[in-house]
Amino acid sequence: MKKTTCLLFILFVTKACFSQTPDIAIIPEPVSMTKGHGLFSLPSAIVIEAPGTPELKIVTDFLTARLSIPTGNNVRVSQTAPAATIRLQLNKEVNKTIGREGYQLSVSANGIVLKANQPSGLFYGAQTLVQLFPAEIESAEKVQGIRWSAPLVEITDYPRFEWRGLMFDVARHFFTKAEVKKYIDNMVRYKYNLLHLGLTNDEGWRIQIKSLPRLTEVGAWNVKKEGYFGTFSPPLPNEPRNYGGFYTQEDIKELVQYARERFVNILPEINMPGHSLATIVSYPELSCTEGADKYVVRSGEQIMDWSKGAPPIALVDNTLCPANEKVYEFADKVLTEVAQLFPFEYIHVGGDEAPHNYWKKNDQVKALMKKEGLKSMVQVQGYFEKRLQKIVLSKGKKLIGWDEIMEGGLAPGAAVMSWRGMKGGIEAARMGHDVVMSPTTYSYIDYMQADPVVETRIYASLRLNKAYEFDPQPDSVVTTRIKGGQANLWTEQVYNIRQAEYMTWPRGMAIAESVWSPKKKKNWNNFFAKTEQHFNRLDAAEVKYATSAYDPIFAVTKTGDSTVNVALSTEVEGLDIYYSFDNSYPDRFYPKYTGPLTPPKDAVMLKVVTYKGKKQVVRYNWMPIEELKKRAGILKR
Ligand code: ACM
Repeated sequence: MKKTTCLLFILFVTKACFSQTPDIAIIPEPVSMTKGHGLFSLPSAIVIEAPGTPELKIVTDFLTARLSIPTGNNVRVSQTAPAATIRLQLNKEVNKTIGREGYQLSVSANGIVLKANQPSGLFYGAQTLVQLFPAEIESAEKVQGIRWSAPLVEITDYPRFEWRGLMFDVARHFFTKAEVKKYIDNMVRYKYNLLHLGLTNDEGWRIQIKSLPRLTEVGAWNVKKEGYFGTFSPPLPNEPRNYGGFYTQEDIKELVQYARERFVNILPEINMPGHSLATIVSYPELSCTEGADKYVVRSGEQIMDWSKGAPPIALVDNTLCPANEKVYEFADKVLTEVAQLFPFEYIHVGGDEAPHNYWKKNDQVKALMKKEGLKSMVQVQGYFEKRLQKIVLSKGKKLIGWDEIMEGGLAPGAAVMSWRGMKGGIEAARMGHDVVMSPTTYSYIDYMQADPVVETRIYASLRLNKAYEFDPQPDSVVTTRIKGGQANLWTEQVYNIRQAEYMTWPRGMAIAESVWSPKKKKNWNNFFAKTEQHFNRLDAAEVKYATSAYDPIFAVTKTGDSTVNVALSTEVEGLDIYYSFDNSYPDRFYPKYTGPLTPPKDAVMLKVVTYKGKKQVVRYNWMPIEELKKRAGILKR
């Protein structure tokens, strides 16, 4: 009996492993795809034919690793191989349709042919090709029992936008060089080509500037705190300031090279004039404010008051002084070294959320206003940005900054990164500035992905389906100025790389499809079905991701002086919701949600779980009834 069960088990597993036809789940969705019938199976000795162009080594190295490590197969690369498994070809005559980054991929029973105008196109084609194989192709170890086959398909593909970015804030929390490299590896899977590194902020200065050593001797270090950033107790004088870190110039060169070998540009951000506390602590003479020499690098304690909206009121002056010539000398020194380290054409100079309250009462600023005929603090910041742009241009680079840089009048040639919605970006494009869209509404991946009862608490939410609606250029906006879009991962509440991955995926897939795929090819249900398959791929790659899209959405209404109704829904179709009010863990044998619930009089907790058929797809969501009453306005916060 035992033997028979075992035999059946083996038969079942073998069948499951060997008869599966891989579904096609390419993210971002290609421009055009024709599916054939049947499968291409990888031979155990794989030959890649590729011309000897040096940059092609990037593509052949990538393919060699993916096709050999998990499979255990042998991969050989040759410039001429009549019986090649995979042929990489650079078009002799440029194919205008696919442009610089596009490719054509043909998977037939006889072999694989990948064509492009440029090596970067072949790299993106190789990413697509890998996505045609079973999820285990992403593994860093050999995997047994998989049939390494891909469906027959013809694909023509190219990006909608040239700027496909992810912003990684390595200032709020420091991430090591190895972690940044891993972040790059993950982003290229989804055809991102730009990593915007937030290198400076109130909490740390992360790049060695040889002419200004205190920036990293002092500015890179604060006190380790855990909990809810922004509410931490002020550090005590005796608490060790040993939390943080920075990249040496050698580290930066290594990162730039690593990124370049994956067709990724790195955009450095040096944030000025606001968010500059780490700078001021290192060089207090750059502040307008007396007593700045007593400041400390922020460790998450409150330094700005947002209760009156933007710009915030600074509680300590975290701005560089626009009326101090030393500030421009400082900017010149920093930007000289930054420009030498990063080959990308732009330098990001921040410009967001600069509080003006200290400037308003400063005599030096008042004198500057008189001298320059500046009427408002916004114009003072405009003066600062224009001088900064001259410095950036003098280093052979172009300036890009957050959309606040427009407010005081922007000089021609500066580019705008629109974060406070799309409006600023649209206006900047109309004024003739290049624009990158990264609006909080769709692309702030530091925001919570589900209800605050289950997510790390931060002040706003962005669910996956909303991120998927991101359209950097709505039909109503006719311009050639929008270069593309990006998702921004601020890291106030991101303490480690696993959480950075959790916040980035799958929303990074949604944004990738928004910046690469044609608008008419986007479809939420199709995207989410693909995303579920990509969860398996990320599992194989051991990359963390959020399953928050399966989490329930709670909507509460007040029904009496002390009673509420709670409606539950999901952003994903086809899920069943089960719940309990008795504090036990619901499963699919518990009451199934069919309509708004009224918590029993003495209930303290609503526990909710979602299922797809018989499979629990999400963690437990625990919603205190007290919290529901607070949301309904019955109880005070
Ligand atoms: C920003 O999020 N303050 C650019």
